[in-house]
Amino acid sequence: MAEHVTIHEVGPRDGLQNEPGVISVADKVALIDLLGTSGLTDIEVGSFVSPKWVPQMANTPDVLTKMTRVAGCTYGVLVPNMRGWDSFAPFAGGPFEVAVFISASEGFSQSNLNCSVAESIVRLTPVVSAAEAAGVPVRGYVSCITDCPFDGPTQPESVAKAVADLRSVAPMQVSLGDTLGRGEPARVATMLDAVLDIAPADQLAGHFHDTGGQALENVSVALEKGLRHFDSAVGGLGGCPYAPGAPGNVATEAVLAHVTALGYTTGVDGDVITQAAALARSMKG
Ligand code: HMG
Ligand code: MG
Repeated sequence: MAEHVTIHEVGPRDGLQNEPGVISVADKVALIDLLGTSGLTDIEVGSFVSPKWVPQMANTPDVLTKMTRVAGCTYGVLVPNMRGWDSFAPFAGGPFEVAVFISASEGFSQSNLNCSVAESIVRLTPVVSAAEAAGVPVRGYVSCITDCPFDGPTQPESVAKAVADLRSVAPMQVSLGDTLGRGEPARVATMLDAVLDIAPADQLAGHFHDTGGQALENVSVALEKGLRHFDSAVGGLGGCPYAPGAPGNVATEAVLAHVTALGYTTGVDGDVITQAAALARSMKG
């Protein structure tokens, strides 16, 4: 029987957070609702972060209120601290997943979260506890898995330590973010070997941005290492406002075609993704 790959759509969050203008609630909801009809089971829809830091995500509560909740689909939101949890809490009974996020490098941690990596773990720990108490699933992110825009190349051991630190807070799937999209397949393979020493492949996801056009090769490397979860954004939207030079995420339509050609099933309708990619591109500033 063909093996399954789960695609985590991050376009409405990682994609639209990087647009120069704020996308309206109606447009975000239209994109999320269309994606919801594609068979995707995981869609990241917003962030409960500071609106001063990422104004593009300030309308997340309205988006969560107005979007269609498709049965069987889990909708992710980023929550960096208890202030964010308090804003998310009214939605805790819904089909939502909280994502906490740290960096494998100190420079990006300061730029993105205004604190050290160790402090970010302290801040997210009560968020994870609150989510667990409320029965909300939790996912983790580690950014800068091969390169940091401020500190240069990231050592594989730093990524493994970051993954271990997150998973010592609570068991969670950790998405490995090539924030700058500069990771060559050989370095991604070395990094994965270090991480796989401390976490099983089924608890890891690949989150590749696509600067050098190597994201699909990196997906292949990760597949060879046993990973079966990949993040992507329709239309290749994306970037991170606190990582200068960070390009779009690898496009969902490209990952879908790639893993399908390799013989994996996804349960995702490519025609709907094509429509959603066109809609996403039409929202770009
Ligand atoms: P800070 O300024 O150090 O926070 O920012 P603070 O605790 O000192 O608070 C300052 C003000 O912000 C206060 O308001 C707080 O209430 C408010 P004031 O009293 O001045 O009016 N505040 C908040 N408001 C709303 N929601 C909140 C919140 N927290 C504080 N949650 C903070 C620290 C973490 C808040 C800030 O740095 C932040 O929001 N950072 C998020 C940046 C971000 O979202 N980046 C993009 C996502 S990460 C990414 O894209 C990478 C990823 O895709 C993987 C990859 O590709 O590598 C996941
Ligand atoms: Mg990202």
